[in-house]
Amino acid sequence: MRVVITGAASGIGRAVAEQLAVGDFIAGPHSYLLVDRDEERLAEVTAALGADACAFAADVTADDVGERIAKAAFAHMGGVDGVASNAGIILGGALAEARTADYDRLFAINTRAHWLIARALHEPLKASRGAFVATASMSAHQPTPALSAYSASKAALLMLVRQLSVEWGPDGIRCNTVSPGPTLTAMTAAGYSDPVRLAQREAGIPLRKLGTATDVANAILFLLSPFAGHISGIDLLVDGGMSNTLMTASGAGSGQAK
Ligand SMILES: NC(=O)c1ccc[n+]([C@@H]2O[C@H](COP(=O)([O-])OP(=O)(O)OC[C@H]3O[C@@H](n4cnc5c(N)ncnc54)[C@H](O)[C@@H]3O)[C@@H](O)[C@H]2O)c1
Repeated sequence: MRVVITGAASGIGRAVAEQLAVGDFIAGPHSYLLVDRDEERLAEVTAALGADACAFAADVTADDVGERIAKAAFAHMGGVDGVASNAGIILGGALAEARTADYDRLFAINTRAHWLIARALHEPLKASRGAFVATASMSAHQPTPALSAYSASKAALLMLVRQLSVEWGPDGIRCNTVSPGPTLTAMTAAGYSDPVRLAQREAGIPLRKLGTATDVANAILFLLSPFAGHISGIDLLVDGGMSNTLMTASGAGSGQAK
């Protein structure tokens, strides 16, 4: 598979590249265009994957990022079969105090960039009858305290990709999202370094553990793979069951209901 992965220098994006190389879901050979703004870590990941991988250092908020990725993908791989559009950020804070620039930045990375990249890769994906998978979040489904406009930016991403699935279905392109719940990566490591906070979080997850980058990568690879050949326009939650715990959190389920 010829794959473009954004946010490939760390966490879930890196795990997508590494798990694709393992070959459990999608048989090789594979070639990779790895996109990230962190040049140093991107170089490390690329070197570890070998000659089939090509690093493309870019900020996904740039207006022309999609066109530049498309050009680089053609130069390195001659086309594109799959896209893991995964780069994203969190920003803390309350909406009442949020700065306009921070709101715009959240939407620029977590929503708009996915569209810029998808738009530029439409023709190559049409040629390969390929697949596009974006990384959303469980926060797209649930308001998330102290994360400012993060939930809104991810909720918009869900609808953007559903819209793509309808527009591009006739071209044979499948478009889906994955929504991780709490997952241990560089994005969350500082928060979960506090053992009390980690224990509280894990207690709220039915599987009683955080997700790993590999857990989420495997869901992305499933959606990119032929095993998901008739699946388009869905959001696949990878949250250990956490999104089903609303009633538990409110005290129901104790056997005391009247
Ligand atoms: N970790 C979690 O608990 C969690 C939960 C839900 C959703 N997600 C989503 O998963 C995705 C991957 O996050 P992660 O947990 O692997 O985090 P991470 O911080 O380990 O990796 C994110 C990568 O994206 C890159 N990136 C960020 N902004 C960029 C930009 N403007 N241009 C280019 N590259 C950029 C970073 O350099 C980094 O390498 C994100 O979209 C995130 O919102 C993560």
